[in-house]
Order: sequence, then structure tokens, then C-alpha cells
Amino acid sequence: MTDNTADHLDAYPPTAEFAAAANAGESLYDRAAADREAFWAEQARRLHWHQPFTRVLDWDDAPFAQWFADGKLNVAYNCVDRHVLDGHGEQVAIHWEGEPGDSRDITYAHLLAEVCRAANYLTELGLKAGDRVAIYMPMVPEAIVSMLACARLGLTHSVVFAGFSPSALRQRVDDAQARLVITTDGQWRRGKPAPLKEAVDEALVGSEHSVEHVLVVRRTEIEVPWTDGRDLWWHETVAEASADHEAQPFDAEHPLYILYTSGTTGKPKGILHTSGGYLTQVSYTHHNVFDHRAGQDVYWCTADIGWVTGHSYIVYGPLSNRATQVVYEGTPNSPDEHRHWQIVEKYGVSIYYTAPTLVRTFMKWGREIPDAHDLSSIRVLGSVGEPINPEAWRWYREVIGSNSAPIVDTWWQTETGAIMISPLPGVTAAKPGAAMTPLPGISAKVVDEEGNPVHLGETEANGYLVLDQPWPSMLRGIWGDPDRYRSTYWERYAEQGWYFAGDGAKLDADGDLWVLGRVDDVMNVSGHRISTAEVESALVGHHSVAEAAVVGASDDTTGQGIVAFVILTAGAADTGQDLIAELKAEVSREISPIARPREIHIVPELPKTRSGKIMRRLLRDVAEGRELGDTSTLVDPNVFEAIRTQKANW
Ligand code: WT7
Repeated sequence: MTDNTADHLDAYPPTAEFAAAANAGESLYDRAAADREAFWAEQARRLHWHQPFTRVLDWDDAPFAQWFADGKLNVAYNCVDRHVLDGHGEQVAIHWEGEPGDSRDITYAHLLAEVCRAANYLTELGLKAGDRVAIYMPMVPEAIVSMLACARLGLTHSVVFAGFSPSALRQRVDDAQARLVITTDGQWRRGKPAPLKEAVDEALVGSEHSVEHVLVVRRTEIEVPWTDGRDLWWHETVAEASADHEAQPFDAEHPLYILYTSGTTGKPKGILHTSGGYLTQVSYTHHNVFDHRAGQDVYWCTADIGWVTGHSYIVYGPLSNRATQVVYEGTPNSPDEHRHWQIVEKYGVSIYYTAPTLVRTFMKWGREIPDAHDLSSIRVLGSVGEPINPEAWRWYREVIGSNSAPIVDTWWQTETGAIMISPLPGVTAAKPGAAMTPLPGISAKVVDEEGNPVHLGETEANGYLVLDQPWPSMLRGIWGDPDRYRSTYWERYAEQGWYFAGDGAKLDADGDLWVLGRVDDVMNVSGHRISTAEVESALVGHHSVAEAAVVGASDDTTGQGIVAFVILTAGAADTGQDLIAELKAEVSREISPIARPREIHIVPELPKTRSGKIMRRLLRDVAEGRELGDTSTLVDPNVFEAIRTQKANW
């Protein structure tokens, strides 16, 4: 039997029953293929437009797209008001589970009142459409309320993951010139409060920043430093504001948010998303990819709002579709490893969307844990963030999905804004590990360096993933840096005008697409994007480090683990494990605990090409314990002997 036959046999088609009732059938592909723009116009009309659009796509100024440019809408109105006006005010929007065990059910009517109060107060603070607001919060309802209040007023939010360090926050606040930071006093971590507002103060030390106010939600009652005049308590301001507010329409291309993501340099990129096209595609994909049914399903996406998955599939996609969803504040093992399955049972979660790294962690904890719970409510499972290995895919379906729930392996990026490549659960015979096919309305190719299509079925013929047609939720640029936008995504295939995703991919004999992972200096650790350059610059920031080279080495649980090789400065004392621990802590402090290296090796030299470029490919070979590849371009091939000897000592 050849590989290809195996691919073919090892597919999981939907049951006839699932297919018959699904939101999306085969015809969705046909409709999109017949007239792509008409198809997207039809999807956009699922939203409420204060002023209908007459134009669909403007691509004359490529790569700067405009979608539905002459239409006007209000994103928050679409996510909240509309459902209340349609008579669904009493439907639960958010089943919120606090990490210490408290919980709140928030209806759409309640959510509307909260968003209106926040909108009124932000207006009172003098914020105007186009201003930027940084949101640095754990997973509390007020974080979602803040995002929606910004959207309602045309303020551009920049959510910064609450696990990021003060210096990472400062960098983002400065880049976007935010006028307001919204935060909490602290955040719960395994039953204990940890400070957060304190980090904002640290980020804002000195006067050279744009921030006028810091708005603080009380969550943990932890003590906070306070600057009178600048700092404001949410419960004394927003909570006292009027709950009446009328949403104004904004242009479809009005900036909705900036979200920073790692690129190949040390400086994060502020990815810009706008309103009409973005909301169209997140809403369309949430409806079809998860087969979501308003008023029936209980949906749970386990991401954090600090990442794009939280923006698109906790806030804008689900709320635009009137979802009832679970939002959980804590980690999967607090207080113990049963937490997720208790939540699934408690609320009858029917759609569950998570990352492969968590599935592998569940596998490690053992199936007796999920087996102790009734998970029969689950009918669709989703995966995102990195390739899911077939073993994890099968376990996920069998153990969590009662051997019947379809899995949607969704490929997309911060830049794409919404899901691009994925099975449709009522249509696709999904293969474990494959993202399968571009969604209706989306076009992708797998090509070689020159842009030629790679051959079907030649599994060796891996290529690069490109998007050869603009899509509604595509990024509109990098905040303040149009040149970097062009050079990062559009230069590689400039002749063809294709978007270069930065991922390797292959097509199998059936033409189905498998994403293989990043082909640039970006690592993927537990589904988080971290650039090698960022970690290197945090390391060389330490006085003992002269030079650093960082690679992502494969890791059974996290997908990739960060492995660093450092050369010490002349005067530095090599205190062995003590120094290594200190360097790891330095990276956590400088960037975030998610960027903490798994291993650090102190080496006498780094392998470099004659032009002085560090050969990361070879370091990856070393980190993964492989035989060395081609070392012929190295200045000094003996450098590896030294590195290996050093490595063996640890
Ligand atoms: C990168 C984007 C999209 C939200 C979370 C990550 C990798 C993402 C998949 C998938 C294989 C995937 C890619 C991509 N990735 N989903 N289903 N299969 N790889 O967003 O931080 O912008 O990272 O994550 O490498 O380029 P992000």
C-alpha cells in the first residue's frame, strides 16, 4: 500500500445525520467558486449595515485592500444591540468561570448595558474615534466589555496579553501611542492573586509616553500603587455611568484593532485590522467551520483574548453570531486536571476549540481524567495554533469527541484575521493532521521558490503556502510601517502579487493541504509565536552574555521548545546552572514566561557563515540531537565539537 492510499483510507467523513443538518454543505464551495465577490457580499449581508455597501473589493492599491468601502456599520452593535433588539436579551452571552471558583452568567441585555456604560465613560474621558486604547487584562468579562466599548466608539484597541512583561507593554503602548490603558488590580493564578496594575506602573515610568489615564478593574483586591489624577477605578466610574448609549456607524475600513505579533526581527509588528471585512469573515467562519447554532450550542474557545484567537473566536465571531459561550479565567489544571471537563459538564459545552499543545497535555495526564466526565454534549472539536500530530488528533476525537465529533483543524494567522484553511464539519472527510482545503471564498496555493505549483502527490515536494487572492479579514498593514508590511508579506512573490504566509506546506495525492510549520525565524511554542531575535535580544541584554543564538527544537508537548546557545562576556563568571537559571529568569522578565528557554547552553563559539550569519539550521540539528547537515559554508567547522562537548556536560 502506498502512502497515498493510506492518506485516502484514513479519513473521517461526517455522518449522514451531521451532514444533513449542518450549516454548510457542498454547495457553499460552488457558490463561492461561481462568483467570489458576490459570495462575500452575501456573507457581509449577514451583518447589520447602517449604510449598505455597493462596492465589494477595491484592490487597485494592492497590497492595501478595501472591502465594502462605502458601507457603514458598528461592530459592537452587530455583536450585542442587534440580538437584544431581536428579542434575545435574556439569552446568556457569557457563562463566565472565574479561576478561584466564582462564576457569572451574563445575558446579551446585561452585556449591552455594560458596554454602553463603558462607552459613555470613555467618551467622558475625552476619547474620540481613531484614538488608541491599550487593554492589559486577564480573562474577566470587563476585558470583553472594554473591547466592545472601544469598537462601539471607533476607538482602536490594542490588547496586550496579561502575561507580557512591563517592557513589552511599554513597547506596545508607545508604538500605538495609546491614550488610555485598561487593566485590573491583579490576576488569579492557582488560587493566589498576582499583581498586574503594578506592571502598568512600571511600563509607564517616566513621562515620555502618551498615556493620560489608567482605568483599573478590581478583581483580586490585591493592593495597588496609585497615581492620583491618572488612575481611575472602574467601579467608581464606568459602573456609575449611564447604560443608555446609541451606537454610531463607522466606515467599513475604520480601524478596529491593532494586535502585536512576533516577526523575524526583535520588534513586534502591530497588525492592523479594520471593521466590515473583518467582522464578515470572523462571523462567516465561526458559523460554518464550527457549525454554530445560536440559542442551541454552548461554545467554548479556550484561548486568551491577548491573542488573535481570542479576538476573532471569543469576541467578534461568536458574539456576532449570538453565541452562548464559556469564558474561563484560569489554567486547565487549577485546582486540578479535571477543570475543563467539569466546565464542559456544567454548561453542556457542545463546541470546544483549543490548541494541539493542550490536547497533548491532556494525553499526558491520562484518559481516566476526561473519562470520569460526561462529555456527550460535545459535537464539534476545533484545533488551532500549530500542526496537530495524527496521534493527538485521533485521541482528541476518540476521548474528547466520543469517537464521533468531527475535528476542524483550522489554519490561519494573526495577519489573516480569520480561519482560512479548514475542513467543514458537515462536508469534509478530514484526515488526521491535515488542514485540508481553503474555505469557500478563500484561495491558497503551495508553490516552490519561483512560484511554480508543487506536484500533487509528491510528498517530498514540499513548498511554501501562499494566498493568491485578497480576503475580507486580511490585515490592512503594520501600524506605522507600510514598508515592513510590503517587504514581509508581499516581496517574496511580488511578481505574482501573492501573500507569503511564512509557512511550509504540502499537498497530498488528493490535493489536500498539510501545513508543516514556519519557514522563517519564528518559533511556535504551545501555539504562541515567538521570534528567535526577540529572545536573543533579551539574552544579550544580560550583562554576562556577549552573543546569543536561539532556535526552536521539536518538543513532544509544546510543539517547539526554545533552545539558546550563549557566549559569555570576557569578565563574566560562568557559575553553571546558577547563571543558566538567571538567564532563563531574565527572558521571562523581559518578554514573558512563555518565552522562557527550555535549555540554555553556554558555548565558546557560535557557528557562522563566512558572511557572519549564525547558522540556526545547524544549531537546530545539535539541539535535536541529529547528525549535522552541510557544514561546508562554516568559517570554522570545529566549533561544533566544542558545542557538543559543552552540551554533554549538562
Ligand atoms: C502561525 C500563526 C491562528 C491563531 C493562532 C496562531 C501556525 C496556526 C495552524 C494549524 C498548522 C498552524 C502557523 C501560522 N498555525 N494554525 N491549524 N496548523 N499551523 O496565530 O500567532 O499569528 O501564528 O501559527 O505557523 O503561520 P499566530
